[in-house]
Amino acid sequence: MKHNYKSIARCLSLCGTLAGLLLPATASADDAVVVPPLEERLQLCAGCHNPDGNSIIPENPKLSGLNAKYLNRQLKDFKSGDRASPIMSSIIPMVDESEFKALAAYFSEQKRTAGVSEKPDLAVLGKQIYDEGIIGSAVPACSGCHNEDGSGTDKYPRLTGQHSLYVSSQLTNFKSGERKNDPKAVMQTVAKRMSEAEIQAVSEYIVTLKEAE
Ligand code: HEC
Ligand code: HEC
Repeated sequence: MKHNYKSIARCLSLCGTLAGLLLPATASADDAVVVPPLEERLQLCAGCHNPDGNSIIPENPKLSGLNAKYLNRQLKDFKSGDRASPIMSSIIPMVDESEFKALAAYFSEQKRTAGVSEKPDLAVLGKQIYDEGIIGSAVPACSGCHNEDGSGTDKYPRLTGQHSLYVSSQLTNFKSGERKNDPKAVMQTVAKRMSEAEIQAVSEYIVTLKEAE
């Protein structure tokens, strides 16, 4: 027992040291927060989201053209744990909350690029769901909130050209309640009414959405 107690104590002090290394900005409340310039910080994000926010990795969302307030809130929610993600939750402790506004503004100003569907046959059913909803299971039309071309509004995030793998994973997470930071649980309510097949179909359509030049 004694031994166990000791190893736990050692682990706690080691974990504390590790946390100190990982969290330089918040390691001590007395130290002044040292925040790198925006260009330097953006290099961290660029590895996964691309320098212009148009990620080329299907698991990683395109951040380009997302509303700045939406981006800012997602960053805060990753920080507080209200939105869980194995990857972003390990990145965000390195970033100080005072940096969020500038990061959000930067990505909101980048132009969203088009995407490509690898399963265009699924996109036909997807378009019907997106534009009209699913009457039998009371799924509302996605276009009613996210706009016909996926451009979104200040309240509803842009979906145009977003990777289908990211979109389907988020819908699956809303459905299971793993992502639950959506105001008034709007997206959880929508996704819980959808089958896996319907989620795949609408995601294959969303990646093909384009906005007028
Ligand atoms: C190691 C890869 C990686 C790095 C580095 C990274 N991200 Fe992410 N990011 C991801 C993944 C994966 C997701 C999807 C999380 C999920 O599944 O919910 C994500 C999601 C996000 C989202 C949510 C987007 C949305 O549409 O809701 C924002 C905002 C974000 N990242 C911002 C950033 C910023 C800012 C940086 C740099 C400080 C950064 N990320 C660095 C991988 C990364
Ligand atoms: C009543 C309005 C409404 C409808 C209808 C709606 N959404 Fe949403 N959707 C939202 C809101 C609000 C959010 C942002 C949640 C947040 O701020 O955390 C969102 C977020 C999302 C996201 C996450 C985007 C990201 O970048 O992480 C996806 C994907 C999505 N919606 C897909 C859909 C699909 C597909 C449909 C149709 C089946 C749909 N939505 C219908 C309001 C709506």
